[in-house]
Amino acid sequence: MSLLQRCLSGGVPLRLISLRRVRTTSITYGSLVPFKLSDIGEGIAEVQVKEWHVKVGDRVNQFDNICEVQSDKAAVSITSRYDGVIKKLYYNVDDVAKVGQPLIDIELDDDVEVPSSIKQEKQEPANISSVEDSAASIRHKHEKKLATPAVRRIAMESKVNLLDVAGSGKDGRVLKEDVLRFLGQISKAPSNTSYTPHTSSASISKGEFQAGTLKDDEIVPVRGYTRAMVKSMSEALKIPHFGYNDEINVGRLVELRDQLKHISRERDIKMSYMPMFIKAASLALARFPMLNASADEKFENIIYKASHNICIAMDTPGGLVVPNIKNCEQRNLWEVAEELNRLHEAGKRQQISREDLIGGTFTLSNIGAIGGTYASPVIFPPQVAIGAIGKIEKLPRFDAAGQVYPASLVKVSWAADHRVVDGATMARFSNLWKEYLENPMLMLSELR
Ligand code: COA
Repeated sequence: MSLLQRCLSGGVPLRLISLRRVRTTSITYGSLVPFKLSDIGEGIAEVQVKEWHVKVGDRVNQFDNICEVQSDKAAVSITSRYDGVIKKLYYNVDDVAKVGQPLIDIELDDDVEVPSSIKQEKQEPANISSVEDSAASIRHKHEKKLATPAVRRIAMESKVNLLDVAGSGKDGRVLKEDVLRFLGQISKAPSNTSYTPHTSSASISKGEFQAGTLKDDEIVPVRGYTRAMVKSMSEALKIPHFGYNDEINVGRLVELRDQLKHISRERDIKMSYMPMFIKAASLALARFPMLNASADEKFENIIYKASHNICIAMDTPGGLVVPNIKNCEQRNLWEVAEELNRLHEAGKRQQISREDLIGGTFTLSNIGAIGGTYASPVIFPPQVAIGAIGKIEKLPRFDAAGQVYPASLVKVSWAADHRVVDGATMARFSNLWKEYLENPMLMLSELR
């Protein structure tokens, strides 16, 4: 069956139906076509190639994953729109690929009908605009279940709809074991929400070099998440920041977290301190909406946001990225923790979706997960406030009876846009946030 016939038979996503409008040639083709990187939208002109899933000589079918690319906004999977053999990869991992330029050359299988625009493209590679259908080859994450042709065949023969199967592979790819597990032929998989412990301080991480290994200057191109950081932090320079710091006694919070540990194991949801910091912030924002706000372009109106889409500064192998947990005001502690777990896992794979990156309204940065006491956080525009949390430490303090005791303390450093927020408002907000954390029962009593 030809590609066009498959489209018209209704078995493929709607976007391919646009091929109806494309002139096709019905000759047996079996020849080389350049597969161009098409428009991803959002004005993205170039992307960084993060990973190839194919190499020269590999056979691919339609919808097989070709590669992962990363723009400064999101990670995107590129899938094949042809059956054929890969003849050339135009880029190495980490190269920047330009939208509209060839990504791979693919030798089509026989009996494939090819849009005449693609045939033309072979003679006129510079004529980018003539490729009207190539957008169909780009699929943002989760639009379709990823699986190899072999797994698709097993699913088809077993009459299993892949959309019903939870994929345990990279990016949710459905593996053979997932289908067999779905059919009850093998036992349940270990949960994929299990947590990878933080790298120990002895190991080498991003931005760190083994002592003495750098013999010459090294040029490191600014790519991916770091590009986004350049843009947003340059923008942030325009904001008049003011800072406010305080100390919070988190002794009861530490106890609460200990008490929640067994539920955490049962539910397979990691409960770190962060969901508590986030939930307390959301409760405090409900009373101080001017901190969950942004100004319009001319600074004539301030928009108080109804949703508490709390951004989390996240340290990932690709650099700082700031996804947000949507509608924290509607989520309980476990739901916030579950979202944080999901984003943290996606961040480790550098595969945070665009949806998770847009629409943030307020930011928290738990730099204390790495270390440090105080920070001077920089506002994430167009937001108006950010908080940086230091490391929880045991330090001596006086109790009510004047006795010294080992207190669990953490410092918070707030920064706010002084055009929108004044110092007194910031201090009141911080006091309320602190109250929820020092008396977690108060926080829990307010949860839905
Ligand atoms: N003080 C002491 N311990 C802390 C802590 C803090 N402030 N924050 C986290 N920890 C502990 C956690 O409880 C966990 O310990 P455990 O394994 O015994 O439970 C451990 O440190 C690792 O925590 P982590 O896995 O990082 O989880 P988290 O939910 O607390 O934080 C992130 C998640 C994404 C916020 C965090 O990993 C991160 O990336 N922080 C860096 C943010 C950053 O770079 N900011 C700078 C922006 S310019």
